[in-house]
Amino acid sequence: MTLPTAPLYLDCQATTPVDPRVVAAMLPYFTDQPGNPSSQSHLYGWQAAAAVKQARARIAAAINAQPQEILFTSGASEANNLAIKGVAEAYLAKGRHLITVQTEHPAVLEPCRYLEKLGFEVTYLTVDSHGLVNLADLAAAQRRSRSADGGNRARCSRVDRRD
Ligand SMILES: Cc1ncc(COP(=O)(O)O)c(C=O)c1O
Repeated sequence: MTLPTAPLYLDCQATTPVDPRVVAAMLPYFTDQPGNPSSQSHLYGWQAAAAVKQARARIAAAINAQPQEILFTSGASEANNLAIKGVAEAYLAKGRHLITVQTEHPAVLEPCRYLEKLGFEVTYLTVDSHGLVNLADLAAAQRRSRSADGGNRARCSRVDRRD
């Protein structure tokens, strides 16, 4: 058996080696087709828009979603911000209590802290030595969420203006 000379890279949550097929598919858009898909007054924009549309359709089909449900972001931080703040705002009328875990990545914790400043309540659950949440703690936080909603609503002054 031959041992690899380079260290094995395992932190694929931090960044991921790109599949060579993806690199090959992307290369033209870094070189001779450098269009912005939002530029709809010239060929390069049309080519880029067509490529984004095709990519969106392929990803949607792969995960059994609708193309309009696929949003491309620059990375995980942007996606987490978009999802957490977007869901919080979309469900304002239903509740203003978020439940997360203390071990979450800052890309999750920071938007939660931001929402706290707007008046949301955030519960930061602890985890055990295996990184697992105690389900009884989660259920208790959910119960508190249901009963505390009226109070949370009263404290959301800045967000309330957008109701
Ligand atoms: C779990 C997790 N979430 C979010 C991020 C942030 O990712 P990005 O650099 O794509 O914004 C990382 C990066 O290490 C991560 O490990």
